Amino acid sequence: MGCILLTGQGVAMSQSNQKAATIVVLLGPPGAGKGTHATAMSEHLSLPHISTGDLFRENIRNNTVLGQNVKSFMNQGKLVPDELVLDMLFQRMEAPDCARGCILDGFPRTVAQAKALDAKLSKNTRIIALNFNVPDSVLIERITGRLVCKDCKKPFHKRFDPPKQANVCDTCGGTLVTREDDQENIVRKRLEVYHEESQPLIEYYAKKNDSLREVDSQNPKEQVFRDILLALSTLKTKESL
Ligand code: AP5
Repeated sequence: MGCILLTGQGVAMSQSNQKAATIVVLLGPPGAGKGTHATAMSEHLSLPHISTGDLFRENIRNNTVLGQNVKSFMNQGKLVPDELVLDMLFQRMEAPDCARGCILDGFPRTVAQAKALDAKLSKNTRIIALNFNVPDSVLIERITGRLVCKDCKKPFHKRFDPPKQANVCDTCGGTLVTREDDQENIVRKRLEVYHEESQPLIEYYAKKNDSLREVDSQNPKEQVFRDILLALSTLKTKESL
């Protein structure tokens, strides 16, 4: 069994240390509820939550070179090119808090990204993919009504999940904002890109050693989370997380 090592060159395998790691990959279209459930999953599994979208938005906010390079892709609803995604993500995964694994939200987005991830991981690092299933007709309303905390990134919804106090995050007191790419015309483009480039990942993980679990994310949020725990518990019987 292997573990994730800090090599300075990415996530690598150790033959000497026998501890395995688990990567939980959250798949699903924009607005499916990946970010909504990632924080609670992170607490439940004691694994860090890594959202590539949040990392990009942080870079845009801080006006870094990476932020300047990715902004126009995101604001057009297109995918950021792989070379800009992979370095940033693998560097984040080298941090010590990822030694037991992590929850990946928004990555991989293409089969090429999934293969790059596989190539980086130890043979004994387990990948579990949860596919959040929601029809497109529901997603537009979800995304165009979304509010996100500027500080802790927690998502709310004007109608389905309103904050207790208008525009204030229930969890950290931060200001709630609307994401730039949540305008309806950009959301439609993001959905188109999802179906074309990201949906093939469902088949990729279905074929991969019993890695895929489906979650009906059209249900109310509390039920979705119960279903997520159930999906993870069936996996737990095979290998402890
Ligand atoms: P990213 O930030 O990853 O966005 P996304 O994948 O489009 O997903 P969202 O954050 O929109 O949706 P979510 O599933 O998290 O939904 P949420 O839980 O908030 O990516 C943004 C951009 O960055 C991409 O377009 C691309 O340009 C770039 N990018 C990122 N990663 C990349 C990569 N790997 N490669 C290339 N480019 C990349 O829920 C949505 C709303 O619904 C909320 O308001 C919530 O309150 C509500 N809601 C949730 N669940 C329910 C429920 N059960 N019932 C009712 N309402 C609900």
